[in-house]
Amino acid sequence: MDAGAAPAVLTTIAETRTRIAAFRRERPGASIALVPTMGALHDGHLALVREAKRLADRVVVSIFVNPLQFGAGEDLGRYPRTLDADVALLAAEGVDLVFAPNAAEMYPDGSAGTTVHAGPIGDRYEGAARPGHFDGVLTVVEKLLGIASPDIAVFGQKDAQQLHLVGRMVADLDLPVEIVSVPIVRERDGLALSSRNRYLSPEARRAALALAESLQAATRAAGGGVDELLAEGIAAFGDHDDVELDYFVAVDPETFLPVDDGFRGQALVLVAALVDGTRLIDNTTMSIG
Ligand code: PAF
Repeated sequence: MDAGAAPAVLTTIAETRTRIAAFRRERPGASIALVPTMGALHDGHLALVREAKRLADRVVVSIFVNPLQFGAGEDLGRYPRTLDADVALLAAEGVDLVFAPNAAEMYPDGSAGTTVHAGPIGDRYEGAARPGHFDGVLTVVEKLLGIASPDIAVFGQKDAQQLHLVGRMVADLDLPVEIVSVPIVRERDGLALSSRNRYLSPEARRAALALAESLQAATRAAGGGVDELLAEGIAAFGDHDDVELDYFVAVDPETFLPVDDGFRGQALVLVAALVDGTRLIDNTTMSIG
């Protein structure tokens, strides 16, 4: 589709399936990419869309604020919903189809009867702070893959644990889709782009830099081993009283289990913190030892 022309915005599963079947009929052998999102799109999402455009002939973007992945007391009610602005951004990228269902369309019984369980890694890190979060993510991703039947699905490295668990689900359940990841997009000062950044006051926005700064400090210390990089990363939070660190951990990117001081090679360092009540996450890969 030409960049600038508005994509079709469909709200039902049936219409979406019909349109995607038509894509496949019109151009046999053409590939389809799905970019699952919760909307409130920013340049990080647009990087996913551009990668999808690069890799596939047709691009479908889903926009659905999935209640199943929000816990009690989380920000489901106030999560930004900006459909018109999102569709305008996606039109400029030449997206073919936007699937924007409501909760009743996705969960007609009010909740998913059958769910995907993320397994033990789903209970760590983000999952420890947000019990059931990854079961909710995987359940909706599995449904979206079933609805769109894409050849490729594109996810951001920013949600590294989500990306890992989606990859595990696809492998474990033999789902016929290739998962593609796209690097984190950052502001000029290093802050990782997130839809939740729009909750931040100017002061909280400055304090939020603690996450990126802690990863930079850890990267500088990585030559000294895991204990040293963790100590340096955590120490970077000492300069920011208004930031509450949740976890700062180095994991093996293959297993997502924590690595110890004897570890040498590529590790993924994950950080999460509450900044003025807003939960933010970030991560980076570093070479240890
Ligand atoms: O990363 C997100 O925005 C969501 O977790 C996803 C993958 C769209 C599932 O709701």
